[in-house]
Amino acid sequence: MSAAPSLKLIERQGFAEDLHQALGHKPRSISPKYFYDEAGSALFEHICQLREYYPTRTEMALLRQHATDIADLMGPGAQLLEYGAGALNKVRCLLKQMRQPHSFVPIDISGPHLLQACSKLQAEFPTLAIEAQVGDFTGELRLPAAPTPGRGRRFGFFPGSSIGNFSPEQALDFLRLSASQLRGGGLLIGVDLIKDPALLHAAYNDSEGVTARFNLNILERARRELGARFPADGFSHSAFYNAPLQRIEMHLLSLRKQVVELQGVEYTFEAGETLHTENSYKYSVASFQALAGQAGYRPGPVWTDEQHWFSLHWLHSPID
Ligand code: AVJ
Repeated sequence: MSAAPSLKLIERQGFAEDLHQALGHKPRSISPKYFYDEAGSALFEHICQLREYYPTRTEMALLRQHATDIADLMGPGAQLLEYGAGALNKVRCLLKQMRQPHSFVPIDISGPHLLQACSKLQAEFPTLAIEAQVGDFTGELRLPAAPTPGRGRRFGFFPGSSIGNFSPEQALDFLRLSASQLRGGGLLIGVDLIKDPALLHAAYNDSEGVTARFNLNILERARRELGARFPADGFSHSAFYNAPLQRIEMHLLSLRKQVVELQGVEYTFEAGETLHTENSYKYSVASFQALAGQAGYRPGPVWTDEQHWFSLHWLHSPID
């Protein structure tokens, strides 16, 4: 009996290089983008459904509540770009309300994932023009043409507080870049707010341990894809709020002195040393508006929930 044919594309190179970099320099840190292989993306979807992880449902409720106002701000004939599109769950709510959209342009780093999400979306919106772009939205993109001037404008959508993964300096770079891409239109962006650290702590230390598995998946991924070798149960999930820097930090914490072997190179971790895997910055409404202003946006309406846990910002990108 022969196995079913399967075609699998794994992008090994970037991860291997970056992991060597991460392990070989102290303090050790790696980009959170490596969380999102197939297993990690599934774990992230699970996180989004956890009771303690308030951002997803809070933002979704804000989108549902204000979708018609948002569609009015966009006007007819708009082109909508989504940065880091993922599963496309949130944008449906906007697409339903938009009037004669020109096109939808989801941008995502994972081609296969994007293609799958787009074909599902196309089935639900058969007349919508979808022009998916595979790539890193922080770099140079070759965007499809904007609507003809006077017929509609171009807008961006960046939900989930994904901007929180960037340092404030990187966030400013992204906002500047997007403001230039969206000139004459604007950006709808979800931003997680500064709040009681106990609530933040719970959101990143859920009782089912899903976030822990998500964090530890980076190591499992290194084992699966790169043949990395390290003792079982040698690392634990560590997530805490760094109040002075207004960010959640996630680390993989070495529980004892141990060696991680990657492609013939040995890296020693002392007990208590960490690999820093993620930052998730939190903002106040005013501090985020100030950052957006610095990037050339003109802040518009802001929607927040009653508890003031999450914010959805409308940012105009003036012509000049
Ligand atoms: C996708 C970056 C917005 O920071 O809350 C969730 C990722 N990490 N739980 C976040 C994440 C741990 C998430 N972002």
